[in-house]
Amino acid sequence: MKKLWMVLPAAAAALKGWPVRFDITRYEILTPAVRKPVRFAVLADVHDTWYGENMERVTDLVRQENPDAILIPGDLCQEKTENHNSFLLMEQLKDYPVFYCTGNHEERRKDVEAVKQDLRDRGVIVLDGRSVAAEFGNSLFEIGGISSRTYKVDPEYTAEEVNALFHTDGYRILLSHQPQWIELYKALDCDLTVCGHAHGGQWRFPGTGQGLIAPNQGLLPKYTSGIHALGRNHEVISRGMAWHYHGIPRMYNNPEFVMITVTPKGERSC
Ligand SMILES: [Fe+2]
Repeated sequence: MKKLWMVLPAAAAALKGWPVRFDITRYEILTPAVRKPVRFAVLADVHDTWYGENMERVTDLVRQENPDAILIPGDLCQEKTENHNSFLLMEQLKDYPVFYCTGNHEERRKDVEAVKQDLRDRGVIVLDGRSVAAEFGNSLFEIGGISSRTYKVDPEYTAEEVNALFHTDGYRILLSHQPQWIELYKALDCDLTVCGHAHGGQWRFPGTGQGLIAPNQGLLPKYTSGIHALGRNHEVISRGMAWHYHGIPRMYNNPEFVMITVTPKGERSC
């Protein structure tokens, strides 16, 4: 009986922190570069997760929000699966423009080029070291992406290399999996950088927003979530959408569905 009283609070704490729903986080960025509010959904670190029949737990969220476009900053797929879930998700969302860069889990695959082609076949715009121009809300956007090839802490690219991806005066968005490349992002001629990878630190200390551990950043990582003003650039870090990582559940860290609204300066939309 004494043992039971010791186990019960631990079991209750674990149940309370268990991930059973998505947190929806909304950011608004004001800029003179757009004429009307333009809304982006961020689907980071899906890791080939199953989200129910026809992936409806995610597709329902996207359809409710009805964004102008979807941004995927890597680790949509896993390195050791057939990725049926991720491919099904892309098929379900084919009515939306989807922009994607690889994360380390795709880049680890020997057949990464085949995976990228599988995604292109499902309408995904794969940004592997290039940008594309697109018009949303009568405003010009340019969306670029860089791959994440290693577990290096430091950037795999120079600012000059990344700036060379962009060619227009449109609102510039960079998709890059790695969140901790702060000095690189600070040096870019870019308006918004969207990252994932850190999974919010996997286990969070309740009520603090501090994560326990993240790849490339180690214990008590600094860059696992939120929006960070970096000069001209804003970095948005998603906590990711997978329920667990290699079977280790998140704790006090629900999967996160991020919406970013880019709004004309002076007008508020949400
Ligand atoms: Fe990752």
